[in-house]
Amino acid sequence: MDSSKSGESQKLYIETYGCQMNVADSEVVVSVMEDKGYVVTEDINEADIILVNTCSIRENAEQRIWGRLDVFKQIKKKKPELTIGVIGCMAERLKEKLIEEKKIVDLVVGPDAYRSLPELLKTVETGQKAINVILSKEETYADISPVRLDKNGVSAFISIMRGCNNMCSYCIVPYVRGAERSRDPQSILKEAEDLFQKGYKEITLLGQNVDSYSWKSEDNDLPTGQASGRQGKIIKFAQLLEMVAKISSALRIRFSTSHPKDMSDDVLFTMAMYSNICNHIHLPAQSGSTNVLEKMKRGYTREWYMDRIMAIKKILPDCSISTDIMTGFSGETEEDHQDTLNLMTWVNYDYSFMFKYSERPKTYAARHLKNDITEEIKSRRLTEIIELQGKLSEISKKIDLGKVFEVLVEGVSKKSTDHLFGRNSQNKVVVFPKQNYKTGDYVFVEITECTSATLIGEPIK
Ligand code: SAH
Ligand code: SF4
Ligand code: F3S
Repeated sequence: MDSSKSGESQKLYIETYGCQMNVADSEVVVSVMEDKGYVVTEDINEADIILVNTCSIRENAEQRIWGRLDVFKQIKKKKPELTIGVIGCMAERLKEKLIEEKKIVDLVVGPDAYRSLPELLKTVETGQKAINVILSKEETYADISPVRLDKNGVSAFISIMRGCNNMCSYCIVPYVRGAERSRDPQSILKEAEDLFQKGYKEITLLGQNVDSYSWKSEDNDLPTGQASGRQGKIIKFAQLLEMVAKISSALRIRFSTSHPKDMSDDVLFTMAMYSNICNHIHLPAQSGSTNVLEKMKRGYTREWYMDRIMAIKKILPDCSISTDIMTGFSGETEEDHQDTLNLMTWVNYDYSFMFKYSERPKTYAARHLKNDITEEIKSRRLTEIIELQGKLSEISKKIDLGKVFEVLVEGVSKKSTDHLFGRNSQNKVVVFPKQNYKTGDYVFVEITECTSATLIGEPIK
C-alpha cells in the first residue's frame, strides 16, 4: 500500500467490453487502482472516475463504445469533476484521436500501460489530458494479483500470455495488443493456487493462441558465469496445463483459444490424462475453404483443420468442440460459403460464434484486399450459418438425453429460483432442481430434457 494514497475514497466505475482478455485486464486495472486507495463502485452515478475497457475487433464493437461515451457525456454534464478514461484495444487503436473526437475523454490508456494509470490520473487532476499507449514486449502483469470482479466466486480467468504474432490478414489484435509474450509459469501457478484456496473451483487459462505458449526457464544447475551454449528448460502449453491440473483434482481447468495451426496432440494427451481438464476445445475455423483461409493468412488448410478435429475425436471421444466462423471475407464465393457450411456439418460443432467480416484499418486485408462482398450477401450467408448452427446445437443437446454429468454449480437459474445452473465438462449449461445444493458444489445430474441452449435434469445421489 502507498501511504500517500492520492486516490483515497475516490470511486471508480469500470465497464468492460470485448473478449475474456479484457475481462481479465479489468481485474488487473482494479488491482492497480485499489492499491492506490481507489474504491470500486457498481453505481455509475456515484463514480468519480469512469473507465471503459474497449474492443476494436469489429466496427460495431467500436460503435457501441461511441454510444456509451455519449451516455457518459450526459452524466458529466451534471458532474463536471467526473473523470472519463478509455482503456483497452480501442484506446490503443485511436490514441489521441479519441480525445479529439470526444472532448469529454480525459484519459486514454492502452493494454500494456495499466501500471501508469494512477500517475496519469494525477495529471488529469491538474486539468490536463493524459495518454499512454506504449506497447511493451515484456509486460505480462505477472506480479499483479487481479481483483476478481466476477459475481459467483466459482470461476475465474488467468491470462497466461499477451499479444499475438499471427497477423491473420483481417485482424486488428496484433496492432492493438502488440507482440506475443508468455507469462512466467510460476506466477500462473501461484495465481491458480490462490484462487483455489479462496474457494474457486474453475479457472480458464487465456491467450490469443495458447498453443504457442512458451517459457524458457533459467538453468539453475549452471554455475554463475557459465551460461555457455546450454539452453534452459522450455515449458510449452501441454506442460503448463499439466502443472495447473496437478494443483487439485477438485479444480477444473479450461483454456482458450486454441489455434488450429499449432494445436498439438501433446495437449490432447494431457487433457486425456487429467479428468479435471475440461473436455471442451474452442478451435476457430473461420472458414471451410482453403482459398479463403489462405487469403486470411491463417496458416492451415481445410484438410489440416479436419485432421486436427479427427485427432480430438480420436484422443478425446467425449470432447465438445466449438468454433468461430467469419463470413463474407474478401473474394468469398458461393462455393467457399458452401465449404464452410459443410465443414460445420462434418465437425458437428456444439456451438459457434458467427460474424460478418468487418474491415479493420491498417490490417493486411484493408491494405491489399477488397472488402467486396455486399452487406446483403454477408447477411444472407450469416443467416444460413446461424440457422445451421441452431440445428447442430440442438443435435448436440439431444444426444445427451439420459446421460449423467458432473456439473459445477455457478448460481441460481435466471428463470426459476428453485433451480440452479452450472456447466458440465463439455461447457454445456445444465439446469436442475436446487434441493440442498449450492453455488460451488459438484453435482451429478441425469439429463431428462433439453432446449437448443440448455440441458435440464435431476440430481442423482
Ligand atoms: N485469437 C483467436 C481469435 C480472437 S478474435 C483466434 O485466432 O482464433 C475472435 C474472433 O473474432 C475471431 O476468431 C474471428 O472469428 C472474429 N474476428 C476477428 N477479426 C474480425 C474482423 N475483422 N471481422 C469480423 N470478425 C472478426
Ligand atoms: Fe487475430 Fe489471428 Fe491473432 Fe487470433 S491468431 S488474435 S485471429 S491475428
Ligand atoms: Fe477485442 Fe481486444 Fe479482445 S480487440 S476481441 S478486446 S483483444
